[in-house]
Amino acid sequence: MLKKLFFNWKMNPASPSEASSLFTEFISLAQFQPQISLVVLPPYVYLSELNQQLQTSGVTNLKLGAQDLARYSAGAYTGQISGQMLKNMGCQYVLIGHSETREAYQLSHEQINQKLLQSLESGLVPILCVGHQSDKTITEINYPELSEQVTTALQNLPTEWQTEFYLAYEPVWAIGTGKTATNPIIEEVGQFLKQELAKLGLAKQVGILYGGSVDDVSIQELVKLQQIDGFLIGGASLKPEKFKTIAQVVANQV
Ligand code: PGA
Repeated sequence: MLKKLFFNWKMNPASPSEASSLFTEFISLAQFQPQISLVVLPPYVYLSELNQQLQTSGVTNLKLGAQDLARYSAGAYTGQISGQMLKNMGCQYVLIGHSETREAYQLSHEQINQKLLQSLESGLVPILCVGHQSDKTITEINYPELSEQVTTALQNLPTEWQTEFYLAYEPVWAIGTGKTATNPIIEEVGQFLKQELAKLGLAKQVGILYGGSVDDVSIQELVKLQQIDGFLIGGASLKPEKFKTIAQVVANQV
Protein backbone atom coordinates (compact mmCIF):
# COMPACT_ATOMS: atom_id res chain seq x y z
CA MET A 1 0.00 0.00 0.00
CA LEU A 2 1.24 3.49 -0.81
CA LYS A 3 2.37 5.50 2.16
CA LYS A 4 -0.01 8.16 3.45
CA LEU A 5 1.24 11.74 3.82
CA PHE A 6 0.33 14.13 6.65
CA PHE A 7 1.34 17.78 6.35
CA ASN A 8 1.64 19.81 9.54
CA TRP A 9 1.71 23.52 8.73
CA LYS A 10 2.36 24.38 12.40
CA MET A 11 1.89 28.17 12.98
CA ASN A 12 2.09 29.06 9.27
CA PRO A 13 1.34 30.91 7.03
CA ALA A 14 0.55 34.41 8.33
CA SER A 15 -2.54 35.29 6.25
CA PRO A 16 -5.71 33.63 4.92
CA SER A 17 -4.72 34.43 1.33
CA GLU A 18 -1.34 32.70 1.74
CA ALA A 19 -3.09 29.72 3.35
CA SER A 20 -5.51 29.54 0.46
CA SER A 21 -2.73 29.69 -2.18
CA LEU A 22 -0.72 27.03 -0.39
CA PHE A 23 -3.79 24.81 -0.14
CA THR A 24 -4.41 25.27 -3.87
CA GLU A 25 -1.03 23.57 -4.43
CA PHE A 26 -2.20 20.61 -2.33
CA ILE A 27 -5.43 20.40 -4.32
CA SER A 28 -3.51 20.30 -7.59
CA LEU A 29 -1.15 17.69 -6.12
CA ALA A 30 -4.14 15.57 -5.08
CA GLN A 31 -5.58 15.85 -8.59
CA PHE A 32 -2.23 14.96 -10.15
CA GLN A 33 -1.58 11.99 -7.79
CA PRO A 34 -5.05 10.50 -7.18
CA GLN A 35 -3.58 7.27 -5.78
CA ILE A 36 -1.91 9.01 -2.80
CA SER A 37 -3.80 9.96 0.38
CA LEU A 38 -2.94 13.41 1.66
CA VAL A 39 -3.94 15.09 4.93
CA VAL A 40 -3.25 18.78 5.59
CA LEU A 41 -3.17 20.04 9.19
CA PRO A 42 -3.45 23.86 9.04
CA PRO A 43 -3.90 26.30 11.94
CA TYR A 44 -7.49 26.30 13.28
CA VAL A 45 -8.31 29.74 11.91
CA TYR A 46 -8.02 28.62 8.29
CA LEU A 47 -10.05 25.43 8.55
CA SER A 48 -13.41 26.82 7.52
CA GLU A 49 -12.16 28.53 4.38
CA LEU A 50 -9.93 25.64 3.36
CA ASN A 51 -12.79 23.22 3.86
CA GLN A 52 -14.89 25.26 1.43
CA GLN A 53 -12.03 25.25 -1.05
CA LEU A 54 -11.74 21.49 -0.65
CA GLN A 55 -15.48 20.89 -1.14
CA THR A 56 -15.50 23.04 -4.28
CA SER A 57 -12.51 21.17 -5.73
CA GLY A 58 -14.26 17.80 -5.52
CA VAL A 59 -10.99 15.95 -4.73
CA THR A 60 -11.45 12.93 -2.49
CA ASN A 61 -7.85 11.97 -1.64
CA LEU A 62 -7.12 15.18 0.29
CA LYS A 63 -8.51 15.63 3.82
CA LEU A 64 -8.22 18.18 6.59
CA GLY A 65 -7.09 17.76 10.17
CA ALA A 66 -6.27 19.92 13.19
CA GLN A 67 -3.05 20.23 15.14
CA ASP A 68 -4.58 19.74 18.60
CA LEU A 69 -7.91 19.65 20.46
CA ALA A 70 -9.23 20.33 23.95
CA ARG A 71 -9.33 17.70 26.69
CA TYR A 72 -13.02 18.49 27.28
CA SER A 73 -16.13 18.35 25.14
CA ALA A 74 -17.61 21.78 25.98
CA GLY A 75 -17.80 24.45 28.67
CA ALA A 76 -15.80 27.17 30.37
CA TYR A 77 -12.38 26.50 28.82
CA THR A 78 -11.23 29.83 27.42
CA GLY A 79 -9.05 29.55 24.36
CA GLN A 80 -9.78 25.87 23.75
CA ILE A 81 -11.22 24.18 20.66
CA SER A 82 -13.32 21.03 21.05
CA GLY A 83 -13.28 17.92 18.90
CA GLN A 84 -16.91 18.51 17.94
CA MET A 85 -16.09 22.01 16.67
CA LEU A 86 -13.30 20.58 14.54
CA LYS A 87 -15.53 17.87 13.18
CA ASN A 88 -18.13 20.51 12.27
CA MET A 89 -15.41 22.48 10.44
CA GLY A 90 -14.73 19.55 8.13
CA CYS A 91 -11.80 17.99 9.99
CA GLN A 92 -11.40 14.24 9.86
CA TYR A 93 -8.05 13.96 11.64
CA VAL A 94 -6.38 15.49 14.67
CA LEU A 95 -2.78 15.50 15.89
CA ILE A 96 -2.41 14.61 19.55
CA GLY A 97 0.67 15.08 21.67
CA HIS A 98 3.02 16.60 19.13
CA SER A 99 6.26 17.24 21.02
CA GLU A 100 5.92 21.01 20.46
CA THR A 101 2.41 20.93 21.98
CA ARG A 102 3.51 18.67 24.83
CA GLU A 103 6.26 21.11 25.67
CA ALA A 104 4.28 24.34 25.22
CA TYR A 105 1.47 23.15 27.53
CA GLN A 106 3.53 20.80 29.72
CA LEU A 107 1.05 18.03 28.94
CA SER A 108 1.05 14.94 31.11
CA HIS A 109 0.44 11.46 29.71
CA GLU A 110 -3.00 11.52 31.35
CA GLN A 111 -3.89 14.77 29.58
CA ILE A 112 -2.84 13.27 26.26
CA ASN A 113 -5.12 10.34 27.07
CA GLN A 114 -8.03 12.74 27.70
CA LYS A 115 -7.42 14.38 24.31
CA LEU A 116 -7.34 11.00 22.63
CA LEU A 117 -10.65 10.00 24.21
CA GLN A 118 -12.13 13.32 23.07
CA SER A 119 -10.99 12.71 19.50
CA LEU A 120 -12.72 9.34 19.47
CA GLU A 121 -15.88 10.73 21.00
CA SER A 122 -15.98 13.41 18.28
CA GLY A 123 -15.36 10.95 15.45
CA LEU A 124 -11.92 12.31 14.57
CA VAL A 125 -9.07 9.99 13.57
CA PRO A 126 -6.23 10.57 16.05
CA ILE A 127 -2.59 10.84 15.03
CA LEU A 128 -0.83 10.24 18.32
CA CYS A 129 2.75 11.52 18.29
CA VAL A 130 5.34 9.75 20.39
CA GLY A 131 9.07 10.20 20.47
CA HIS A 132 12.10 10.39 22.64
CA GLN A 133 11.82 13.45 24.82
CA SER A 134 15.01 12.70 26.69
CA ASP A 135 17.41 11.12 24.23
CA LYS A 136 20.48 13.09 23.40
CA THR A 137 21.84 11.03 20.56
CA ILE A 138 20.60 9.62 17.33
CA THR A 139 21.20 5.96 18.17
CA GLU A 140 19.88 5.91 21.72
CA ILE A 141 16.27 4.71 21.87
CA ASN A 142 14.41 5.18 25.10
CA TYR A 143 12.04 2.20 24.88
CA PRO A 144 10.58 2.53 28.40
CA GLU A 145 9.64 6.13 27.60
CA LEU A 146 8.07 5.19 24.26
CA SER A 147 6.17 2.36 25.91
CA GLU A 148 4.86 4.67 28.62
CA GLN A 149 3.78 7.28 26.07
CA VAL A 150 1.83 4.67 24.11
CA THR A 151 0.24 2.72 26.94
CA THR A 152 -0.84 5.71 29.03
CA ALA A 153 -2.25 7.56 26.02
CA LEU A 154 -4.25 4.53 24.96
CA GLN A 155 -5.83 3.54 28.26
CA ASN A 156 -9.59 3.42 28.94
CA LEU A 157 -10.47 3.18 25.26
CA PRO A 158 -14.04 2.22 24.47
CA THR A 159 -14.09 -1.55 23.87
CA GLU A 160 -16.16 -1.17 20.71
CA TRP A 161 -13.58 1.19 19.22
CA GLN A 162 -12.42 -0.22 15.89
CA THR A 163 -11.67 2.83 13.77
CA GLU A 164 -8.33 3.62 12.16
CA PHE A 165 -5.72 5.59 13.98
CA TYR A 166 -2.11 6.58 13.55
CA LEU A 167 0.90 6.50 15.78
CA ALA A 168 3.61 8.89 14.64
CA TYR A 169 7.15 8.18 15.77
CA GLU A 170 8.94 11.52 15.91
CA PRO A 171 12.30 11.64 17.70
CA VAL A 172 12.47 15.16 19.12
CA TRP A 173 16.05 15.71 17.95
CA ALA A 174 14.95 15.08 14.34
CA ILE A 175 12.16 17.68 14.20
CA GLY A 176 13.14 20.70 12.14
CA THR A 177 16.84 19.89 12.38
CA GLY A 178 17.55 18.36 8.96
CA LYS A 179 18.58 15.13 10.72
CA THR A 180 16.50 11.99 10.29
CA ALA A 181 16.64 8.72 12.15
CA THR A 182 18.25 5.96 10.09
CA ASN A 183 16.07 3.38 8.40
CA PRO A 184 17.22 0.47 10.65
CA ILE A 185 16.36 2.49 13.76
CA ILE A 186 12.96 3.53 12.41
CA GLU A 187 12.20 -0.09 11.44
CA GLU A 188 13.19 -1.27 14.92
CA VAL A 189 11.01 1.35 16.61
CA GLY A 190 8.12 0.62 14.22
CA GLN A 191 8.31 -3.05 15.16
CA PHE A 192 8.42 -2.19 18.86
CA LEU A 193 5.38 0.10 18.56
CA LYS A 194 3.43 -2.60 16.75
CA GLN A 195 4.22 -5.03 19.57
CA GLU A 196 3.07 -2.51 22.18
CA LEU A 197 -0.16 -1.99 20.25
CA ALA A 198 -0.68 -5.74 19.92
CA LYS A 199 -0.47 -6.04 23.73
CA LEU A 200 -3.33 -3.54 23.90
CA GLY A 201 -5.31 -5.42 21.23
CA LEU A 202 -4.92 -2.50 18.81
CA ALA A 203 -2.52 -3.83 16.21
CA LYS A 204 -5.05 -4.16 13.40
CA GLN A 205 -6.29 -0.64 12.82
CA VAL A 206 -3.06 1.22 13.48
CA GLY A 207 -0.83 2.91 10.94
CA ILE A 208 2.71 3.78 12.00
CA LEU A 209 4.13 7.07 10.72
CA TYR A 210 7.60 8.54 10.86
CA GLY A 211 8.17 12.28 11.29
CA GLY A 212 11.25 14.44 11.70
CA SER A 213 12.97 16.26 8.82
CA VAL A 214 11.16 14.39 6.06
CA ASP A 215 11.87 16.42 2.93
CA ASP A 216 12.51 16.07 -0.79
CA VAL A 217 16.00 14.68 -0.11
CA SER A 218 15.51 12.42 2.93
CA ILE A 219 12.38 10.84 1.40
CA GLN A 220 14.55 9.06 -1.17
CA GLU A 221 15.84 6.76 1.60
CA LEU A 222 12.84 6.88 3.95
CA VAL A 223 10.44 5.65 1.28
CA LYS A 224 12.15 2.25 1.48
CA LEU A 225 10.89 1.67 5.04
CA GLN A 226 8.79 -1.47 5.40
CA GLN A 227 7.32 -1.02 8.90
CA ILE A 228 6.13 2.52 8.19
CA ASP A 229 2.73 3.34 6.69
CA GLY A 230 3.29 7.04 6.09
CA PHE A 231 5.04 10.26 7.03
CA LEU A 232 4.31 13.35 9.12
CA ILE A 233 5.90 16.32 7.40
CA GLY A 234 6.49 19.75 8.95
CA GLY A 235 8.78 22.29 7.28
CA ALA A 236 8.51 20.80 3.79
CA SER A 237 4.69 21.26 3.96
CA LEU A 238 5.19 24.94 3.24
CA LYS A 239 7.27 24.47 0.09
CA PRO A 240 5.30 23.20 -2.92
CA GLU A 241 8.39 22.03 -4.82
CA LYS A 242 9.44 19.96 -1.79
CA PHE A 243 6.09 18.36 -0.93
CA LYS A 244 5.39 17.62 -4.58
CA THR A 245 8.73 15.78 -4.84
CA ILE A 246 7.92 13.84 -1.65
CA ALA A 247 4.57 12.77 -3.14
CA GLN A 248 6.22 11.86 -6.45
CA VAL A 249 8.78 9.64 -4.70
CA VAL A 250 6.02 7.94 -2.72
CA ALA A 251 3.93 7.46 -5.87
CA ASN A 252 6.89 5.78 -7.57
CA GLN A 253 7.30 3.37 -4.66
CA VAL A 254 6.86 -0.24 -5.74
P1 PGA B 1 9.78 18.71 10.35
O1 PGA B 1 8.57 18.61 11.40
O2 PGA B 1 9.37 17.92 9.14
O3 PGA B 1 9.93 20.18 10.07
O4 PGA B 1 10.96 18.11 11.02
C1 PGA B 1 7.92 17.40 11.63
C2 PGA B 1 6.86 17.60 12.70
O5 PGA B 1 7.09 18.39 13.61
O6 PGA B 1 5.78 16.98 12.64
